[in-house]
Amino acid sequence: MSTPGPISVLEREHRFIAGVAAALPFLEASPRMLPDVVGFLREYADACHHGKEEVLFFAALEAEGLPPAGCPLGVLRNDHDEARGLVRRLSAADAADLRYLLGALRELYLNHIVKEDYILQPLAARLLPADAMAELEQRFEAADQRFGLERRDRWERFATELIRRFHTEGMAADELDHRRRHISELARTCHLEGPIPPQLPLPPST
Ligand SMILES: [Fe+2]
Ligand SMILES: [Fe+2]
Repeated sequence: MSTPGPISVLEREHRFIAGVAAALPFLEASPRMLPDVVGFLREYADACHHGKEEVLFFAALEAEGLPPAGCPLGVLRNDHDEARGLVRRLSAADAADLRYLLGALRELYLNHIVKEDYILQPLAARLLPADAMAELEQRFEAADQRFGLERRDRWERFATELIRRFHTEGMAADELDHRRRHISELARTCHLEGPIPPQLPLPPST
């Protein structure tokens, strides 16, 4: 069975965000790249991607009965808020804070994406009926139009270049395993355990 449209949109965006997140610690030695990376995290990861999730995707799941607080949506919203706070600090970080912030953001984003790819998306695929999926796909397209398709594509090209430069495409099997164990407690609490699909490759940028 192919992945429903709106879920594949989010999973595609995750590959760019995860690759940039994995590269963050390398930026301690390349601080001139930081303003662009902060721009990517604010515009692409937060405004474009988290915006779709919070305003449209989570709302559609709430309409199917998932509670807005607690597990898993409250946990994921909390991750988004925490990321915003860390990115704000990163934008004004001095040398003493830089290593901590880059490492903390890397951990937060990668764990968050594993939670969504392996817990939330399979749940959404089960919960959302076909008409809700079709409506979400249209709303995602409209959200991207408002964000700006050229702006979105530019950030995806930026991410692709950064990922190639630091060789951070995809998570190594042992790291993925480690993160899956990290999220298994959340899955148990939410009663969401299920088969874990293989990791998705980085999509081509346009
Ligand atoms: Fe998210
Ligand atoms: Fe996400």
